[in-house]
Amino acid sequence: MKIAFATSEAYPFAKTGGLADVSSALPAALARRGHDVRIIMPRYYAVDRERYGLRVVGGPLGVPLGGGEKWAAILESRHIPEVPVYFIEHEFYFGRDGLYDDGYSAYADNAERFIFFCRGVMQALKDIGFAPDIIHCNDWQTGLIPVYHKTLYRDDPFFNRGSTVMTVHNAGYQGVFPAENYRLTQLDPGLFTDNGLEFFNQMNFLKGGVLFADAVTTVSRKYADELSTPEFGYDLADVFQKVKGRFRGITNGVDYSSWNPETDPFIPARYSRKTTDGKRACREALQQTMGIDVDPAAVLAGTISRVTYQKGMDVLADALRPLLADENLQFVLLGQGDERILDRFGELKRLFPGRVGLFRGYDERLSHLIEAGLDIYLMPSRYEPCGLNQMYSMRYGTIPVVRATGGLDDTVIEWDDKSLRGNGFKFAELTEKALYEKIRYVIRCYHDTQSWKVLQRNAMEFSYSWSDASVEYERMYEVILLASRTRGESRAPGNDHSRGSRGKKRVKSNA
Ligand code: ADP
Ligand code: GLC
Repeated sequence: MKIAFATSEAYPFAKTGGLADVSSALPAALARRGHDVRIIMPRYYAVDRERYGLRVVGGPLGVPLGGGEKWAAILESRHIPEVPVYFIEHEFYFGRDGLYDDGYSAYADNAERFIFFCRGVMQALKDIGFAPDIIHCNDWQTGLIPVYHKTLYRDDPFFNRGSTVMTVHNAGYQGVFPAENYRLTQLDPGLFTDNGLEFFNQMNFLKGGVLFADAVTTVSRKYADELSTPEFGYDLADVFQKVKGRFRGITNGVDYSSWNPETDPFIPARYSRKTTDGKRACREALQQTMGIDVDPAAVLAGTISRVTYQKGMDVLADALRPLLADENLQFVLLGQGDERILDRFGELKRLFPGRVGLFRGYDERLSHLIEAGLDIYLMPSRYEPCGLNQMYSMRYGTIPVVRATGGLDDTVIEWDDKSLRGNGFKFAELTEKALYEKIRYVIRCYHDTQSWKVLQRNAMEFSYSWSDASVEYERMYEVILLASRTRGESRAPGNDHSRGSRGKKRVKSNA
């Protein structure tokens, strides 16, 4: 199959979170299964020309936008051996330091930037001559692609044998923008209704993607169920219910070539489940790096996180204060995001000198050292579509303590000290009290050295790689392709309801 994987971030080129990890590992796993996969993403300022061997392969590319056309270049990198990566370059839209914001607030023209990107993906695929069987779209930034595919490009022979998939990595971010941006899309105004892209008088990218894609997925089974509820669906619950016949959860895999203590180049000592000795050296290195006491008796807990409402870091900061007072506990955080919440960790650092480490910012190398050096990994998320760090932690013998939501609930099995089964700990309520009690219980378990070793071994044995998960995507692609081709063959020409009430609209530049 020919698969175009459209995304706004992919490791190592540009990353703010797990979407980037998925966007390089899943395409590579599909390529290893024999598919012709190409990633397509924006070329941000940070995507270095030399480092990634970028070369111009297409364009100048005309991208229709509003009443006019913007011009872009297409660059290619072969940095990921199995998968060519194409970058849409436009200095004004993407030549910036941040992906979505300037470090404080979201860019004011994000709607325009990602309308341009979605339309640019369609144009770029034609320009490079890659007619995909599947366009796999990810999160709101790519949400208009399935809409374009089913409307402006519907009769385009280049695209009409293909299908689209929309994967929802996080329904907390939907790409909701003032209605006046809609005219930039060149879509039929008839689609701007409650059954289309309109959402409380605004335009909603993700809603468009979910409604128009041939299949919709999210990144765990539990989150797929949760999305149909008002609490997690963020006002799109009814939309997810509407598409439930073509909506499913496929849990993210782990790229064990990047996240594996046996081979990790970022950690000072390697180890495996057979010999975990190296973990002690990693723990010491972590304590030193984070400027906390090299105390072998303390329990070392921590997390790596976007510091946002989603991640429950506010509640964690509250619970840590009494925990640090009552237990011989150390805590380290690598994170960026909400400065007020980060300041609360800063305050803990002042209150408990030598026991709290805080690194404000983004650091890939340090994130690996944290996975290797910790005893317990805390993930008290309010919601978590999948979550990757709990799975990374397990492989490093670092025990996850998570809130039972989304993918965290699907992947972590509660430790039972009678049967010696389980790979981590879960709690249900996100309150300071519940977190305090759970972590105290975990610390008691930690001090039972023999059974903790069994727990560690269980966790390290957990394995869910992309070679497992990619098979599920492959099967789904096959099913929708077959269905849409069968439908396509029996479709009467001109019998098209998807253009909205105004009927046909031709776009000169893709005619
Ligand atoms: P999310 O995508 O919601 O942020 P995930 O658990 O799926 O959560 O993935 C987060 C990814 O981002 C992991 O690879 C994690 O190690 C990484 N990450 C998050 N914050 C940072 C940071 N400040 N520095 C380095 N890596 C980070
Ligand atoms: C999102 C989610 C996270 C998930 C990641 C990759 O950012 O918040 O839970 O693991 O996407 O799918």
